[in-house]
Amino acid sequence: MHSGTFGGYFPLELNLSEQHYYPTARGYRSARSALYHLLTEKKPQRLWLPRLICQSVIEAVKAARVEIAWYTLDEALFPQLPAVLAESDFVLFVDYMGHCQPQKEKLMRLYPAGRIIFDHSQSFYNAPEPVFATVYSPRKFFGVADGGLLVTQDAMPLPASQDRDSFTRMTHLLLQHEYGTRAGYEDFQHAETALEDIEASGMSALTEKLLLSVNYQKIKAVRQRNYMFLRQQLASINASPFCADDIAGPFCYPLYFTGKKLRPRLIEQGIFVASYWQEVLSHVSEKSVEADYVNYMVPLPCDQRYEIADLKVMCQRVLDVIADK
Ligand SMILES: Cc1ncc(COP(=O)(O)O)c(C=O)c1O
Repeated sequence: MHSGTFGGYFPLELNLSEQHYYPTARGYRSARSALYHLLTEKKPQRLWLPRLICQSVIEAVKAARVEIAWYTLDEALFPQLPAVLAESDFVLFVDYMGHCQPQKEKLMRLYPAGRIIFDHSQSFYNAPEPVFATVYSPRKFFGVADGGLLVTQDAMPLPASQDRDSFTRMTHLLLQHEYGTRAGYEDFQHAETALEDIEASGMSALTEKLLLSVNYQKIKAVRQRNYMFLRQQLASINASPFCADDIAGPFCYPLYFTGKKLRPRLIEQGIFVASYWQEVLSHVSEKSVEADYVNYMVPLPCDQRYEIADLKVMCQRVLDVIADK
């Protein structure tokens, strides 16, 4: 159904499919907005959060006025939790870079599924589990400005408002086509800052249509191919135990390298690797699993933008940085 007017100019051409990738998911402005709405509606008394987490999740939980209990991770990235959860406790666990299927299964064996929230912000292609809720943040995988998904069996009302400002946060997506990634970086940062206000807000119509136009299967296959190529090329320098070969549409290729600080050198070489969750360092000990992860885990891109020929260039630059060439 269109807007009731006829003629005039055309909108952006999109190739809408009939159905979303997760048809039962509710759409929000961001993953944090989805989590905030869930928590304000369900009002758990206390939520166990990993120390290794994005600040925006912490802000959403605080804004929902839910008490936080912190847990650390062991070497296998498994939560160090009490054997039995208190009556009204819930646990949130992040599927880190999509590599935590075994950890999620163990958690579901040990704790009541109805009190577990999985954060799939870094694992878009991992389907929701039969737990209380799963949240997704599609823009970590696709070129959209915002958007969050919530999957839960529980009844939830619609969010009170709906985002209609997505179009004001899209400059970087457009600039990138014309002028490349560096040109859009400042706008990208503005767009991210604009998502900091936490409220329960539904997904914009624009983002919804963009997400309906994504070729999910193709992107999944390209990501898998690229990940496998990087895995083969860089295995000898990668100390990460989290490099399984069966990751669905991977978020990135996680390169764990403690020899030197790779990130600034890679950025100099035009490899824009994100630096996740620096704030975590002020809450954990220097030698912890969490600090090592923040300091040394480098998320190399393996996404749909790249052909194998591009990745060969990237691998060579990574190897040159490591060899100090
Ligand atoms: C693990 C994790 N969960 C949730 C979020 C928040 O997602 P959004 O920016 O869509 O609110 C982030 C943000 O980067 C994240 O890294």
